This record gives sequence, C-alpha cells and structure tokens, in this order.
Amino acid sequence: MSWGGIIHAFRDRLPLPANAKVITLCEGNTPLLPAPRLVAAMGGDFDLRLKYEGLNPTASFKDRGMTMAVTHAVAKGAKLVICASTGNTSASAYAARAGISSAVIIPAGKIALGKLTQALIHGAKLLPISGNFDDALNLIRQMSNLKEVEVVNSINPVRIEGQKTASFEILETLGQTPDFHFLPVGNAGNITAYWKGFCEAIPQGRRPRMFGWQAAGAAPLVDGHPVKDPQTIATAIRIGNPASGSGALTAAKDSNGRIDKVTDQEILSAYQLLAQTEGIFVEPACAAPVAGLRKAIAAGWIPKGSLVSMTLTGHGLKDPDTVLSLFPNAPSPIAPTLDAARKALGL
Ligand code: F0G
Repeated sequence: MSWGGIIHAFRDRLPLPANAKVITLCEGNTPLLPAPRLVAAMGGDFDLRLKYEGLNPTASFKDRGMTMAVTHAVAKGAKLVICASTGNTSASAYAARAGISSAVIIPAGKIALGKLTQALIHGAKLLPISGNFDDALNLIRQMSNLKEVEVVNSINPVRIEGQKTASFEILETLGQTPDFHFLPVGNAGNITAYWKGFCEAIPQGRRPRMFGWQAAGAAPLVDGHPVKDPQTIATAIRIGNPASGSGALTAAKDSNGRIDKVTDQEILSAYQLLAQTEGIFVEPACAAPVAGLRKAIAAGWIPKGSLVSMTLTGHGLKDPDTVLSLFPNAPSPIAPTLDAARKALGL
C-alpha cells in the first residue's frame, strides 16, 4: 500500500479534531540505514542505524510536526501561520499546500541558503530580525495572542505530537528497542517528542537511553544556564534558551541518558566522515550527534554489540555554503584529452 503521511499512518495515536482535512506532503516513513563503515572508522563495535530525516518532503524532520500543526490551523479556520525559525521549520510549504499564508521570523544573515530559498519559493512573508532565534521566539510569544494567526513553533504542542512518530517508525522497523538513541538538540522540541514517542510505544520496560547533543557555543542545557549570544557553524541549533529545555532534561534523566556538547571542529569533522564513509549528506547540525558518537566511543559509553539509533535531522543540500567553505579551491579546467585526464587522476 502506498504511504500517505504520518497522520494517515498513526491517526489513532495523534490528537486531531474529528473530520479535520489532513494537510500532508506524505512525510515520514524515512529510511533507517545501517552505518557499519562509519562505526568502524570511529573504532566502535556495535550496530548503528541512521534515521535519515533529510529525506522528508522539505528535507528535514520538521515536516512531521508541520503536517499536524497546519492541519490543526486549517481546522480552526486560521488564515495565517507564523513561526520563528533557524530555517528548517517547513511552515511555508505546508501553508502553500493548504492554501493559507505563512510568515517566518528569522535571524537576519544566519539562515542556510537552501532554507531561505525554500521559504521564498513557497511564498512565505519573511521577517528577518536583527537578533537571534531566541529573540525571534520571544517575538512569536508576544504575537501568539493575535486572533488572526496560528503559531506553529514547537511551543504549539501538536508539533511535538507529530514529531514523536519517528520513534514509532524506528521501533517498527527494528522490531526491537535500541539501547541508545542519539540526536541533535537545539530548541529541544525533537528530543522531547522522541522521548514521548518511546514512552507511549513502550509504556513499561526498557526504553532507549537518550543522548542529545548541543554545539559547544550554544549549549545552555549542558552549561546549566541560557547562553546570551550563542555561536556555532550549525546554524539550525544556534539557540541559547531552548523552549523545550525541560523536556530534554527529563528525557535524559528518565532514560539514564545525557545531554552533552561537541565543538564546531568536531561537528565539521564528523560531517565529512559521515558523507565519505556512508554516502549520507546532512547539514552541520545533524552531525552533532555523529560527533557525539565519536566522543561516546572514546569515553567507553557504548558497550560492544549495542544497538544504537540516531536521527539525522536534515539534508546537506540545505547548506551548500558550509561545504564550499571546506573546499575553497575548485579544480582548474584541464584539456579534454586522455593524457590530461590520466595525469589529473594520477593514473
Ligand atoms: N536539526 C535540524 C536540521 C534543525 O533544523 C533543528 C531545529 C534541530 C536539529 C534541533 O531540533 O530544535 O527540536 O531541538 N531547527 C529549528 C528550525 C529550530 O527553526 O528550523 P530541536
């Protein structure tokens, strides 16, 4: 049977108004890829499965929450959905699908190129602010009482409901419970959602240990206080005061997991290693848990033979500039001759 999106697949486990018209781009059902070459390159000895959320319709995990949020907004009669975003929040695509308007508040100059192009082409009203994501979210909170608009940030609880479906898919695909689940943490909605999903699917008994990873320059949950001026190459998680921070800390505590941090240098190294060992291209934020895995292996936290699942939250094509910054010297042209090609390839 063809896949009809997460609401269709998991309707009995999602709160929805009766007779709501479902707004979907057939998100979800993303692959769970084994990654033996990556594990070997890091010196580990266990089974790693990568939930490649970059293969959602707008190329990030946000689609799972947005099908829920926009379906709810339309059922309530909203004509405009708004959100603050570091770029991925796919409101604009789902609003276009529903035939309503969208506005996106973004930190000026700190949005990856691919994400900006998505919001533009879907016709979103873009409101860049001279501030960071936390400032944008503060503004959104002030706007949430305006009756004309529906806020579709993850402070809207139906977003979390949609995002929890990734946990259901992981359990169904594996047919067993992973020992660990790794994922990046920014505003902390996703780790909150995954933990909710695991708890609902496994009401009693062993659940995965949740290991969430922040960027070192934007690690309020690790450092124990909000970060005023968060800085990281991983713009998607450049957040200093996460709205769902308490959900992340609960997930880590209740699962006997941890929230930890990795440097930009570690992120960029893991980003390239993943692409070059497994053929999987992600945006820098998604490489935070990959870098975290390397750290966990070095620390001896992952016993031999473990089953580890990891969410890769968004596609690498969102952020071409980061790749180009790593490979600044484009090769110069050669003559179109066999000799020149052999010489260039060292054959
Ligand atoms: N990875 C990617 C690719 C993201 O876009 C985000 C968040 C995260 C990880 C972190 O997830 O916030 O639930 O902890 N992006 C949001 C956005 C903030 O607006 O695109 P989180």
